Amino acid sequence: MNNLITVKDLKVYYPIRSGFFNRVTDYVYAVDGVSFEILPGESYGIIGESGSGKSTIGQALVGLLDATDGQIIYQGQDVTEKRVRKKMMYNRDVQMIFQDSLSSLNPKKKIIDIVGEPLKNFENLTGDTLKARVLELLATVGLDEEAMYKYPHEFSGGQRQRIGVARAVASNPKLIIADEPVSALDLSVQAQVLNYMKKIQKKYGVAYLFISHDLGVVHHMCDHLAIMHRGRFVEVGTREDIYEDPLHIYTKRLLAAIPRIDVSRREEDRLFRTKIEEEYGAQKEQYYDEDGRVYALEQITQTHYAALKKEGE
Ligand SMILES: Nc1ncnc2c1ncn2[C@@H]1O[C@H](COP(=O)(O)OP(=O)(O)O)[C@@H](O)[C@H]1O
Ligand SMILES: [Mg+2]
Repeated sequence: MNNLITVKDLKVYYPIRSGFFNRVTDYVYAVDGVSFEILPGESYGIIGESGSGKSTIGQALVGLLDATDGQIIYQGQDVTEKRVRKKMMYNRDVQMIFQDSLSSLNPKKKIIDIVGEPLKNFENLTGDTLKARVLELLATVGLDEEAMYKYPHEFSGGQRQRIGVARAVASNPKLIIADEPVSALDLSVQAQVLNYMKKIQKKYGVAYLFISHDLGVVHHMCDHLAIMHRGRFVEVGTREDIYEDPLHIYTKRLLAAIPRIDVSRREEDRLFRTKIEEEYGAQKEQYYDEDGRVYALEQITQTHYAALKKEGE
């Protein structure tokens, strides 16, 4: 199958300015050479702790930030330069959902106008046709007609995030970038929102780029995952590769950090976490070079890659 999107050696550096002349004195290497592919209709996860560069990737993909280097290929076309994106309908095809639903939905607008906006802009829908489509979209995320005439603040966080999903899917996109879409929600509500996202995916065939700091949250969502640390990918693989056979110490640490609901196994979990942290302390140089930089990815199996130290390095 052809890739929907291919990212090649993407780098995004933020300049640090200082001194009297406010000159650029250094850079934050927020994204320092990452490559990945997303297939049509699949869910791809980028997981890593806060500050590892996940949001920067998402923002470079939707055009909120410029890439410092590297390429973004969409349906076979290089769209790294923004002026190419117009022709490709890229800005319609790639939508984004943010963590904070309250600030990403216009507080002064009713839901019918928020969800209807992309339909007006991209499909010139008006009147009853517009209303019917909004109703259909709201129904797919479990909301009814009443919701159309309310304002964002009248909903719970989980409902608002579902409205965000309905709006994102309204323009019939090929890819939705979801940056920590459920991180601000209670655990029980998280699962509900994710289920609606899955339903939407089935119905519309949209691909997701799912960004999260928590491997537990995305376990049942992602077909492929990239584990990110310090601006680079430390491990890439299928869901089975990552959850059943983690190779990089950082992936193991993220797995050990997943909170388990089963209280009787808390002690077991705690011991496991301690063991992983000891392993991390003792074997750091096997996983990071002397500058603390993540090694280049090595192919382990057909689907599984890990950034391990090479013999003699
Ligand atoms: N506008 C900015 N200017 C300078 N540094 C930034 C800016 N935005 C993010 N960073 C830095 O880039 C790194 C990656 O940030 P981010 O992509 O937001 O990570 P994540 O989403 O994984 O938490 C962090 O070290 C962060 O402090
Ligand atoms: Mg982020």
